[in-house]
Amino acid sequence: MTLERAIALDDVWGGELTPVVVRGTKVLLVRLGDEVHAYEDRCPHLGVELSRGRLEGRVLTCHAHEWTYDAATGCGINPARARLKRFPVAVADGAVLVDIGGEPRP
Ligand code: FES
Repeated sequence: MTLERAIALDDVWGGELTPVVVRGTKVLLVRLGDEVHAYEDRCPHLGVELSRGRLEGRVLTCHAHEWTYDAATGCGINPARARLKRFPVAVADGAVLVDIGGEPRP
């Protein structure tokens, strides 16, 4: 697992959807309380950026066709079969670190 710095923790606000790019991959960060969750910034339905949607509590809604997800787990609410691609994430030294997989640049 290779965690890479994505953004300062202070720049990820609770209740907001925060898009970042890690090594060319669009990542959506969601801060819920003390936890930060990282997902591919891509709706599994038709690929729209989820960061353009909205967050109400822990319900993430895609703006395109209103599919909804649990922002704490990435599991679909409606439809229930949908799943977000989840990335390992950690917080260290005031930064959010994300593992998007693959080999980091040297
Ligand atoms: S692209 Fe997200 S619900 Fe259709």
